Amino acid sequence: MTHHTQTRDQDTTATPLAFPVARQCPYHPPSAYTELQDRSGLRQVRLWDGQVAWLVTRYADFRAVLKDRRFSADTRHPNFPNPNPGMQIARGKYRAFVSMDEPEHNRHRRMLTAEFSRKRIETLRPCIQTIIDELVTDLLAGPRPVDFMRCVALPFPSQVICLMLGVPYEAHDFFQERAAVLVSTTSTLEEAALASHELIDVYLSDLIDQKIAQPQDDIISRLVVGPLAHDDLDKGELLAMTRLLLVAGHETTANTITLSILTLLRHPEQLAALRENPSLLPQAVSELLRYLDPTQGGRRRVASEDVMIGGQWIRAGEAVVALNHVADRDAAQFPDPHRFDIHRAPSYHLAFGDGIHQCLGQVLAQVEIEMALATVLRRIPSLRLAVPLEELEFLDERVVYGMRAMPITW
Ligand code: HEM
Repeated sequence: MTHHTQTRDQDTTATPLAFPVARQCPYHPPSAYTELQDRSGLRQVRLWDGQVAWLVTRYADFRAVLKDRRFSADTRHPNFPNPNPGMQIARGKYRAFVSMDEPEHNRHRRMLTAEFSRKRIETLRPCIQTIIDELVTDLLAGPRPVDFMRCVALPFPSQVICLMLGVPYEAHDFFQERAAVLVSTTSTLEEAALASHELIDVYLSDLIDQKIAQPQDDIISRLVVGPLAHDDLDKGELLAMTRLLLVAGHETTANTITLSILTLLRHPEQLAALRENPSLLPQAVSELLRYLDPTQGGRRRVASEDVMIGGQWIRAGEAVVALNHVADRDAAQFPDPHRFDIHRAPSYHLAFGDGIHQCLGQVLAQVEIEMALATVLRRIPSLRLAVPLEELEFLDERVVYGMRAMPITW
């Protein structure tokens, strides 16, 4: 636990607010966060393990923090604000480039930029379309009602990244269960340590050995015959990188797709406009990402020097949690920010973060969301929820927001 002295601009001089605060409404971030935007924008909060951090809520402040190299993403820092025990373990032992600063970060990330470039993702479109089409075909052939999350939204990005990495999809139950333990805020340190061991030290380690023995046409094999063989990467670093790629795009993309369908069903006139004019899809996806912005655990950093943000000094060694989902509802940037509007003028949303760690998989994610929405809307014209809205169960305690299930029928 760390102790900090109170600084000026505290909203309440009393003890820091406990973070996270529960949502009052499933479709909007808690007002305890958005209200801060009208005041100083910043506020100290107390995290799950007792640590104190600065909450950043304004759009401009968010971008200032994420673009400033004096804020470190290095999880080895004793004050690094870990979101949960699982992350602490996974990032401590196998630190991937999401938890590195420059120049180390760029040395790792650039080994992958071509793999996730617009050019490469465009060549994958036919494979991605086949995957979503098969899932929808199976859905339509099966019983109704059915959970859209389990049957379409989760397997879709999972099959795509498995194909790209060269990980057998049959193992998905195994690694999804381990990954879920690692991202859950309710896992104990022991559970997280076991999940991390089984996923990384055993499963992924064996897989990499297989690729070393018999390289194939996939990302892991290219990393094995390239950087690993040339000593630009050691096996521990490759394991950390593989784990990051395997888990980073599942829950995020799956929950965005599911919440996107829900949002469109809740706004039937916009859904109708989209069905009528599919060329609106890219701007609709951009607005869905702004409005839903599912990574509600925030971007975590530690100040390596004293930095002034929004008129507040953040001192060297102090922790920061910058909330993209709240900054994306800042009225100073987005007029009427809580209104979902696919006709909104295109804007720069923060769902993929900002600065050097901005999502490596963002082109892939956008293509997946677009293709999933286009395919589902076209092939299931009478799609509707199978339960009343009030019965949907939202998972507010996770770092990635979502639903336990979304029962649908048609
Ligand atoms: C809707 C889906 C997605 C959302 C909302 C999302 C969001 C984010 C955010 C907010 C960050 C910044 C982390 C930080 O600054 O602390 C990030 C980084 C990252 N994302 Fe995504 N992501 C999505 C899909 C994907 C996919 C499909 C992949 C593919 C593997 C991916 C791979 C990564 C990687 C590797 C990083 C670390 C980049 C770095 O540190 O340089 N993401 N993502």
